[in-house]
Amino acid sequence: MPDMAHDHHQNLCSFFTLPLFLAIFVFPLVHMYPSVVRSQLDYNFYDKSCPHLQSMVSYAVWAAVRNDSRMAASLLRLHFHDCIVNGCDASVLLDDRDNMKGEKNAPPNRNSLRGFEVIDFIKEDAEKFCPSTVSCADILTLAAREAVVQAGGPFWQVPLGRRDGTTASEKAATDQIPSPIEPLQNIITKFTSKGLDVKDVVVLSGGHTIGFAQCFTFKRRLFDFKGSGKPDPTLDSSFLPSLQSMCPNKDSSNTNLAPLDPTSTFRFDNMYYANLVNNTGLLESDQALTADPRTAQWVNSYNVYPYLFSSDFAASMVKMGNLGILTGQKGQIRKKCGLVN
Ligand code: HEM
Ligand SMILES: *[C@@H]1O[C@H](CO)[C@@H](O)[C@H](O)[C@H]1NC(C)=O
Ligand SMILES: *[C@@H]1O[C@H](CO)[C@@H](O)[C@H](O)[C@H]1NC(C)=O
Repeated sequence: MPDMAHDHHQNLCSFFTLPLFLAIFVFPLVHMYPSVVRSQLDYNFYDKSCPHLQSMVSYAVWAAVRNDSRMAASLLRLHFHDCIVNGCDASVLLDDRDNMKGEKNAPPNRNSLRGFEVIDFIKEDAEKFCPSTVSCADILTLAAREAVVQAGGPFWQVPLGRRDGTTASEKAATDQIPSPIEPLQNIITKFTSKGLDVKDVVVLSGGHTIGFAQCFTFKRRLFDFKGSGKPDPTLDSSFLPSLQSMCPNKDSSNTNLAPLDPTSTFRFDNMYYANLVNNTGLLESDQALTADPRTAQWVNSYNVYPYLFSSDFAASMVKMGNLGILTGQKGQIRKKCGLVN
């Protein structure tokens, strides 16, 4: 009899133990789980909270590019300028306000960055279907990936869960965005100080396989290079006449546009590197990549191996997209991308 009572007690015990265990130890963990997950980015971040996000983004980018074929390039650059200045926190999208001069109007960006209205359009869509859920930083990151894909470039999965910053700094943008006329070593230092490396400089510069530059960003190469009275000797002379006719030697041509990759201006391919090997890179900072052995080796590889360029570009975009991100409880989900809540 004592044995039976004991058995009965044991059965009861094991009967109640599992649910009890779950209630006390496991269910509380389930509630903690989202904040645990949010401390890092996650491919499935919006799968439940905004399941149609990626199709909203790809539709909007498609429509924007159909209307203006340059827009793919502009969206890619917008994401770069967000990430390289204090991280991918959508700070580049913030309008200036009374006590804050933001990044939008910093010299490298003013009258140059484009695509804000495309991001705003996607954000309005996202707010309609999934209010206060999707960050502007994630929208911008997805839009840049879509832009590359739709221009014929590689696809990659975008880790999601970034949150939006609440400040932007004109000075940070001015100091941190690379200039097309500064020495390559400065540009390398700007990248490495963020956790990117020399290879990332070369492969991400391949973004210049699409889009345009205003004449003032490279014009000194065409007429009076560094006071020599002559064109830049590193620019192939057979390429000069067409550039000089797009960018005549007078101030009124400053905002004229020249394609960064004249071989295939709207196609995301590896022709950027073929141009560099041919000494027909547009910006000084582009052509400089062939003059330093640390970078030239990658230029040559990407010229010869288009698939290597595609896969390295995708990997470096993920790396760039993870710079300085806000996650968990940091930052906020802006309701409008130009304004903090
Ligand atoms: C390595 C340092 C870089 C420098 C010095 C640089 C400089 C420039 C300049 C001067 C322009 C022309 C802007 C204008 O005339 O308004 C431009 C355009 C562009 N940049 Fe860069 N850039 C760099 C890196 C990057 C990176 C890493 C990406 C993206 C991965 C990128 C993507 C683009 C695109 C797509 C355009 C064309 C934008 C359009 O047509 O709207 N650039 N860049
Ligand atoms: C179409 O592109 C032009 C610039 O090329 C722009 O001014 C206009 O707002 C765009 N329209 C739409 C509906 O996106
Ligand atoms: C590079 O130069 C070669 C020989 O001049 C020419 O055939 C080729 O089309 C050029 N490629 C580019 C991308 O300009």
